[in-house]
Parts: sequence; C-alpha cells; structure tokens
Amino acid sequence: VKVLPDIQASKLKVTNTSRPLPKCEPEELGFGKVISDHMLMIQWSAAEGWNAPEIVPSGPIGLHPFSHVFHYAIECYEGMKAYKDSDGNIRMFRPEKNMERMNVSASRLCLPNFDGDELVKCIKELLRLDRDWIPQKKGYAMYLRPVMFSTTPWLGLTQCSEAMLFVLQSPVGPYFKSGYVPIKLHVDAKYIRAWPGGTGNVKFGGNYAPTVASQIAAAKAGCSQALYVYDKEEWVTEAGTMNMFFLIKSTSGTLQLFTPSLEDGCILPGITRLSVIELAKEWGTEVVEEPLPLKIVIDACEQDRCLEAFGTGTAAVLQPVGALQHNGKDYTLPEDGFAEGSFQMKMLAKLKEIQYGEIEHPWSVCIT
Ligand code: COI
Repeated sequence: VKVLPDIQASKLKVTNTSRPLPKCEPEELGFGKVISDHMLMIQWSAAEGWNAPEIVPSGPIGLHPFSHVFHYAIECYEGMKAYKDSDGNIRMFRPEKNMERMNVSASRLCLPNFDGDELVKCIKELLRLDRDWIPQKKGYAMYLRPVMFSTTPWLGLTQCSEAMLFVLQSPVGPYFKSGYVPIKLHVDAKYIRAWPGGTGNVKFGGNYAPTVASQIAAAKAGCSQALYVYDKEEWVTEAGTMNMFFLIKSTSGTLQLFTPSLEDGCILPGITRLSVIELAKEWGTEVVEEPLPLKIVIDACEQDRCLEAFGTGTAAVLQPVGALQHNGKDYTLPEDGFAEGSFQMKMLAKLKEIQYGEIEHPWSVCIT
C-alpha cells in the first residue's frame, strides 16, 4: 500500500497579512470574540494524504455547499491555551494531550488521523507569528481552536474523503463574564447530553449543539449552566462545557474528591480534569473517580457534607459552583467552599502557577 504524507511542519508555508487586525485591551476581550491576524490551514484528501501546512491571514473561507460538515456534522475540535509568562515567553499547557484527544475524536468520526507532534510544531510557529496578540496578564491567554471537518463534497453519507484542519487563535479573558464567582447549576433529567455507547467522550460539535436548548432552560430557571445526568440513577456526567468535581466529607469524616469516571464514555476526558485529579492525588486527597449518582451529591448537600463543588475546562479553567437546582429544589453550598483557603482556590492557584510559568513544571512547555 502507498504510504500517504502525514502533517509535516518542515513544509510549513507562511503568508503574512498585509492588513493587521485591530487589537484591544485584555479587559475588553471577553471570550472568543476576537480573532488574531493568522490562522493555520491544512488540507487532507484520501488520495493525497496531508498537504503542506499553511499559515495564512485570518479570514473567511470558501467551501462547497455539499461539504459533509454542513449536513452531517462531521467535525471535531479542541480547546487549548497558550500563556505569556512574566518574562514574555510563550507557554503551552500539555499540548500533546489535546493532540491525543483530537486523534481519538477524529477516529470516532472516521476523519483522518495526524501526527500530533508535527501539528504542535506548526502551532508554535503560529503563536510566534502572532505573539503580540497573546495577553501578558494572569487570567488571560491565547485560546487555540484546532478544528477538523469533512469537506467531502456530495450529499451521500459516506466516510470522509476530503477534510480540512484549521487552527484559529483568539486572545481571551474569563469564559464566564462574572469571573471567579460561584454559579448555579440546573439539573433537568429531560435533557440528556450523553449515554453509554454514545459519543459523550468525543469532542465534536454534535455534542454541543443540543445543549443550547438546555442552557436556555437553565437560564430560565435562574441558573447559569445545565448539569447533565442520565438514567433512573441520575448518573452525573458533566456541565456541558465543564467536567465536575465535588469535595465531600464522608459520614466517617474523610475528605473525598468525587468526579465521574470516564468508563461509561459519557464525559469528555478533560485535560484540566486530568490535571486536577493528578494534583489532588499528589496533595494526598482521596480521589473517587467512579460512576457518580446524583443522590450522593444531594444527600451530602442535605447533610452539610458537600463542602465544595467546581467545574473545570480549558475555557472555564476552574469555576466555583455555589448551588444546584434539582426537581425545583435549591441546594446551596457553603460560602467558604470557594473562599480563600478552600481546596478549589488552592487548586486554581496551582494551575495558574504552572500555566503562567511561575514554577518550573513538566506540563508547561516554554516555546520562548
Ligand atoms: C473548552 O473549554 O475549551 C471548550 O472547548 C468548551 C467550549 C464550549 C468553549
């Protein structure tokens, strides 16, 4: 069999923009509203494999209207961030994990796989080119959005024969406008995000599109996010854009950090999630990574044993949860659960220390 070319960073072609886009102050950024000057673009076809990667000025792209992505949502994406440390160096956080996950997502959708190390090399070039766009302020970052989709140009539903991979860049501030302020989650068993055998663990648009309606329902109920559960046991999955953690004191007084496990395939294997689990274990906290029925959380709330709750994600980083609403009833968590000295505040501080290169750590890749 003919071996087709993989992504090759050595073949990267760069076309600089002649019309730089207007920049804005970090505080005005919000999340994902601003695109930086350049984007990375790589085309793939079943006949030729991966073409030479190109960095081009950011802008609209032309696609055949039959492209599979428009009709059958054959698309997967990643969220990753690059940070500027106090010396002005650019740092990435565990980029190889995003590459691994994107390849898993691509396989599930029968999109092509690629060499993650080579893609990271191209992303580094992209970051260096737009380095002035990366905010040098804690809490701010360059959000990177790799996305791959099928451009197969016919209406029959078939395996992908043509695809495109983009990496877009957006300088960002906090995902939630309110910043580090506890949010309230809405549990509504009517909206199921994922179920065993489904695609809940795949990072693709098809998992996110249906959550807009549940998000609106959550807002109508006075909550800011939906917390998804499934089945009669109301197994906790995730909060749509975030993995979930609950710090619970057992009836015998032991502190345990609960988070739903990956084994039923119903949650996204988050990289912030993984990092929190690894750091918590390093700190000697008992992590219970198992299927989690909501009853464990509700009972703990009713008996004042649920001390903290928070969500994690690349965009959100770590967001405190102050309350849950379930079957019309509110369960409020103690205020010191997200205050100075709380587990989650320490965790957030540690993550930021690593991400902004304040301490040397193997997860932070300095690309100068
Ligand atoms: C991320 O956290 O990076 C995501 O991809 C979630 C998205 C809805 C912003």
